Amino acid sequence: MDKDTVIRLEDVHKHYRMGEAIVKALRGSSLKVKKGEFIAVQGPSGSGKSTLMNMIGCLDTPTKGDVFLERWNIANLEESDLAQLRGRKIGFIFQTFNLINNLNALENVALPMVFQNMDYEDRMKTAKKLLVDVGLGDRLQHKPSEMSGGQRQRVAIARALANNPDVVLADEPTGNLDTKTGKKVLEKLKELNEESGKTIVMVTHDPHAAEYAERIVEIKDGVTQ
Ligand SMILES: Nc1ncnc2c1ncn2[C@@H]1O[C@H](COP(=O)(O)OP(=O)(O)O)[C@@H](O)[C@H]1O
Ligand SMILES: [Mg+2]
Repeated sequence: MDKDTVIRLEDVHKHYRMGEAIVKALRGSSLKVKKGEFIAVQGPSGSGKSTLMNMIGCLDTPTKGDVFLERWNIANLEESDLAQLRGRKIGFIFQTFNLINNLNALENVALPMVFQNMDYEDRMKTAKKLLVDVGLGDRLQHKPSEMSGGQRQRVAIARALANNPDVVLADEPTGNLDTKTGKKVLEKLKELNEESGKTIVMVTHDPHAAEYAERIVEIKDGVTQ
C-alpha cells in the first residue's frame, strides 16, 4: 500500500441478517484515504454511509472485501490488537454525540486515554487543554445534560482528539445541530485538517456540509461512485 494511504477499502460488501431477510447495506464499495485529506462521503439516507463509516473506522468487519488501516489488513488482527490500534489512530464523532451521561466534560474527554494507559494526571491535563481548545474551558464540570447540542458536539470533538489520532471520522456531525452551530463544527473540522494536519472523513447527507471537504465521494445504494 502507498506510504501516504491511511485507510483503504477494497470492494467491501456488508450484509445484515434481519430474521429471514438479508439487508445488503454495502454492495462493493472502495475508497482510498490519503494522509492529510478532508473527504466527505455524501449520499441519501439509507445509502450505507454509517455502515461505510463503521468499516473505515474498523468498528465492524466486512462480509466480503478488504479493509486496510495503514499497512495492516484488519482481518488479520486479533480483536484486542485492533482495538488498541484503532484507539490510537482514529477519533470518532457521531451525530448523536455519544457522550456518557453521568460523566462530566473532562471525564468524557479523558476516557479514551484510560484505554491507552495514560496516567490520571496526564489524562486530566490533556483533557482540559482539549476542552479549552474547543472553547469549553468554562464547562469542564458540566455533564452532557447541562450543555447545549453545540457544546456537546464540541466535547465530542475534544474526545475524538484525546489520543492525538491521525484520522478523525465524523458521521453526520451536524445532523442534530441548527445551521449556525453546525457551521461552527464544520469550521472546526476544517481547521483540524488545515492547521493540525488531521485526516478527516465525514459522512453526510447534506451537500452544504460536504462542501467543506476537499474531495466528495458519492455513495448510492451501498456503492461508492
Ligand atoms: N445493524 C443493522 N441491521 C440491519 N440492517 C441495518 C443495520 N444497520 C444498517 N442497516 C440497513 O442498511 C442500510 C444502510 O444503512 P446505513 O448505513 O445506516 O445508511 P445511512 O447512514 O446512509 O443512512 C439501511 O437499509 C439500513 O436499514
Ligand atoms: Mg447514517
